[in-house]
Amino acid sequence: VSVAVVGSINRDIVARVPRIPRPGETLLAHGASRGGGGKGANQAVAAARAGGAPTAFVGAVGDDADGSDLRAALAADGIDVSGLRTAPDRTGIALISVDDAAENAIVVIPGANGAFDTLDDTQRRVIAAADVIVAQLEIPVAAVLAAAAARRPGAVFVLNGAPSAPLADPATGPLLLGAADVLVVNEHELQDAGGTGDASTDLERVASRVRALVVTYGADGSVVVVDGRRAEVPAFPADAVDTTGAGDTFCGVLAARLAGRPLTLEALAAAARAGAAAAALAVGRPGAQDAVPAAAEVDALAGGAA
Ligand code: RIB
Repeated sequence: VSVAVVGSINRDIVARVPRIPRPGETLLAHGASRGGGGKGANQAVAAARAGGAPTAFVGAVGDDADGSDLRAALAADGIDVSGLRTAPDRTGIALISVDDAAENAIVVIPGANGAFDTLDDTQRRVIAAADVIVAQLEIPVAAVLAAAAARRPGAVFVLNGAPSAPLADPATGPLLLGAADVLVVNEHELQDAGGTGDASTDLERVASRVRALVVTYGADGSVVVVDGRRAEVPAFPADAVDTTGAGDTFCGVLAARLAGRPLTLEALAAAARAGAAAAALAVGRPGAQDAVPAAAEVDALAGGAA
């Protein structure tokens, strides 16, 4: 495979609400849906479907109907699920409120994702076969570090710093930054990783600690830094109905479009452009994995294969 995504997989249960509820408030939803989610699995779908790369997913589901349904859905997208193990636990669940302005609030019940802290031999083999490995921080840090250690020489390790708490933790932040070739964060996660309280100092500080950095600013595009050189990548206009998983789509496509290419500023900027096109298409559709576009749509918007 070209891309191995190591991370979380959830059953998303979505309530459409007029606005995100306040503490102590009960709100009636005006719509509901269920879908495939989890930052890791969303990125795997994005890499395979929108990025067009042979992709494997490494993670854990529970021994239940959600686990087998989610596994089958990834396989239907052509994703290698030999590294998706079944744990004696419940499959992760995400309770998501999406408001009329397309904003969301998410509570994750980790289930099997929370117990995924070591890799088995099959999972290590899948990772060692990939050109690009992608991980996020919705699984234990131990699994993320084990995945970085299992990569073959020359493979690129992309870390998406979401959620960012382990980056801000002095015990794990330096280990994670030390393992990442490419760090992808949004502006809030950058602040947690940098810790200086000043956005541009944070960017310089974090960029100096990884080979490459991508900072996403939503509708304001992204900044890409490789070996001290910097490029700005604009976002594409979008009519947002649901932003859930948009960052995951960006990361998965970025990883897919990096596979087999040298890690240069030009290659990373082109990959970020494809990621931005995919994310713009995804926010116009409801759901996480359900919203991921096809590669042809991405290329049509981004202007040819990136
Ligand atoms: O990033 C979006 C994802 O976060 C959702 O699919 C949900 O499962 C949570 O993991």
